[in-house]
Order: sequence, then C-alpha cells, then structure tokens
Amino acid sequence: MKTFLIFLFALTDASSGSHGSWCDVGRGRQGDLNVTIGSRARPARLPSTEVLDLSGNHISVIPTHCFIVNRKLREVLLQKNNISAVEDGTFSQLVFLQKLDLSWNRISTLTEGFSIGLVRLRELQLAHNRLTILDSQSFMHLDGLQRLNLSSNTIHTVQVRAFSSMSTLRQLHLQDNQLSALRNGIFSMLRSLEVLNLAGNRISETEMGIFKPLSSMTLLNLANNQLSTLYFKTFLSIHSYSTHILLEGNPWNCDCDLQRVFRKLRSIQRLFLDDYSNLTCKAPAALLDYRLTEVDTELCMAETVTVLVITVTVLITVLAAILMGERKRKRIRKGKHWTQQGDFSDESDY
Ligand SMILES: *[C@@H]1O[C@H](CO)[C@@H](O)[C@H](O)[C@H]1NC(C)=O
Ligand SMILES: *[C@@H]1O[C@H](CO)[C@@H](O)[C@H](O)[C@H]1NC(C)=O
Ligand SMILES: *[C@@H]1O[C@H](CO)[C@@H](O)[C@H](O)[C@H]1NC(C)=O
Ligand SMILES: *[C@@H]1O[C@H](CO)[C@@H](O)[C@H](O)[C@H]1NC(C)=O
Repeated sequence: MKTFLIFLFALTDASSGSHGSWCDVGRGRQGDLNVTIGSRARPARLPSTEVLDLSGNHISVIPTHCFIVNRKLREVLLQKNNISAVEDGTFSQLVFLQKLDLSWNRISTLTEGFSIGLVRLRELQLAHNRLTILDSQSFMHLDGLQRLNLSSNTIHTVQVRAFSSMSTLRQLHLQDNQLSALRNGIFSMLRSLEVLNLAGNRISETEMGIFKPLSSMTLLNLANNQLSTLYFKTFLSIHSYSTHILLEGNPWNCDCDLQRVFRKLRSIQRLFLDDYSNLTCKAPAALLDYRLTEVDTELCMAETVTVLVITVTVLITVLAAILMGERKRKRIRKGKHWTQQGDFSDESDY
C-alpha cells in the first residue's frame, strides 16, 4: 500500500513537470525506509489530504527538502523516529500543514523558530519526548492550534506565557509529566479549552484562581497526583456550563475540612465529581485505604461533639448567671421591703 502511494504521487507529479518530488531520505539502518507520500481520501466530499508519512524509521534529521517540493502537505507524520532537535524554520514552508506528529522521539527543547509558519496547524503531537520546560517561545506561532498532546514527557515547569498564543486550543494533554505546582496565569488565554488532562503528575497544590479563565472546560482530569486537600474556591471559580472533574488516585487527607469541601462541591450543579465514589484516604493512618464515601459522615463527628460540648457549657454558664442574677434581684427587693418597714438588719446577712 505504501509503495503504491509513493508510486502514485511520483506519477502525478511527473505529469506536472517537476522532478524528484518524492521524498528521498536515504535508507533506514535496518533495511527499507518507510515513506509514504500521498493523498488520503476523506469521507463526505471533503478535499483529500496530502500526507507525508515517515513514521517508524530512524530519522534523526528532519528532511526539510521533502517539504520544499511538497508545500501543500496537510499532514506530516514523523512519530517513532530518532529526532532530538527541530531546527528553526523547519516547517516554515508548510503553510497548509494541519497536523504534525512528532511523538515518540527524543526532542528536549522547542525554540521559537520551531513553530514559524505553522499558522494553520490544528494538531500537534509531541507525546513521549524529553521536554522538561515549556516557555514563552515554545509554541509562539501556533495561533490556530486546537489539540496539543504533550503527554509522557518529563515536563516540570510551565512558564506563565507558554500557552499565551493559543486562544483556539480545545484540548491540552499534559498527563504523565512531572508537574508539581501550577502557577496562576498559565491557563489565562485558554478560553476555548474543553479538555485539560493533568493526570499522572505530582501536583500537590493548586493556586485558587488557576482554573478561573477556563470558561469552556468540560473535563478536568487531576487523577493520580499528590493532592491531599482541596480549596473550595479553586473549583468554585470554574465558570463553565458544566465540568466533569476526576480526582482519583490522590493521597487524600480525610479530615473534616476535606469532607466539608467535597460536600459543598457536590452541591454545585455545574460540577460533576465523576469518580467521587472511588476516592480513598491516605491519612490519617486509621483511615488508610478507606473510601471517602465510607467515612465522610463520621469525619466531622469529633468536631460536632466538641461544638456540642462547648455549646452546652456556654448554655449552662449563661443559665447559671441568669439564675444567680434572678436570686440576687429577689434578695435586693426583699431587703428594700424590710428597710421600708424599718428593719435595719444588714443585707449581707442574707
Ligand atoms: C515499516 O513498516 C512496516 C509495516 O508498517 C513495519 O513492520 C516495519 O517495522 C517498518 N520499518 C521500520 C524501519 O520501522
Ligand atoms: C539516535 O541518534 C543518536 C544521536 O543523536 C545516535 O547516537 C543513536 O545511535 C541514534 N539511534 C538510532 C537507533 O538510530
Ligand atoms: C497523545 O499521544 C499518545 C501517545 O502517542 C496517544 O496514545 C494518545 O492517544 C494521544 N492523545 C490524543 C488525545 O491525541
Ligand atoms: C472506580 O474504580 C473502578 C476500579 O478501578 C473503575 O472500574 C471505575 O470505572 C471507577 N469509577 C469511576 C466513576 O471512575
């Protein structure tokens, strides 16, 4: 099939008069190189897609000369190669490019020049690489991007302006990285974002306003992180129409505060805690591995008892004070009465 497609493309292009238009990237180390250049028919009268498929080879240098003769490419697939760096302007010729797949490579940094010209790119796959830091340069020119897959890298830092050009982004996949803190502002431009996947990181704390700008968010996945407690306001500030939130696999500290936060969150109609019944306690030790749903009615019991004791004590004190006051007043009245009758006995005797 692949060979056929190459042949087809070569033929088409030969008829239009240009030479060497199929992509010669040399031989793979282990035999034949898998190259496909061709048209992928798409259903329902959509225009066909020009695809360059170079996946599953051992390419370490992206063959830019392939792009010069195939400028109309809509998809470039380079996954499962040995690419460690992307030169500035590599894709700048490909103004029609909509999908770029660079997953399963060895890319550790993205410079500003990487995204030059990719104004029509809708989907960028970068999963299973070696990225560690996303900065304001990384995705600078990707104004039309809708899906960004950064899962399974080793990203530990996202700088505040890293996603600032992406007002059309709808899906951001950051699962299985090493994020531990999310700084306020990193999602501030993502007003079209629907899916935010942060599962499998090391997030232990979220700043209160962090999710506030995400007014289109329908799914927030925070499963398998290091959250032990939650702030109600962090989630209250999500003003989308309806958002599903996943929180499984975190080391919850099951105390009365947590129980209260969850009770309030579950009463907000636009938020859905889909896996609430699966949340388990990590602390206190006595509740290890208990499900939160099994213990949540008891968590505030101790506090309730304390409150009751205090209330009763206060009540008794007040009552006692009233009674004493009442008795004293009676005594005084009696005293006055006797005084008027001419009895001069000392009041303090009573
Ligand atoms: C080329 O593709 C075939 C079938 O898709 C695959 O079995 C083979 O391993 C690929 N070759 C390389 C070098 O990856
Ligand atoms: C991948 O590239 C590195 C250099 O960047 C090289 O040392 C290594 O042998 C390459 N691996 C394969 C499988 O081609
Ligand atoms: C992200 O990339 C991984 C690895 O290639 C893949 O399995 C997953 O389906 C991708 N997710 C999306 C939403 O594209
Ligand atoms: C709860 O966990 C079980 C077992 O891991 C899983 O099958 C189920 O889908 C989970 N429920 C939700 C709502 O995520």
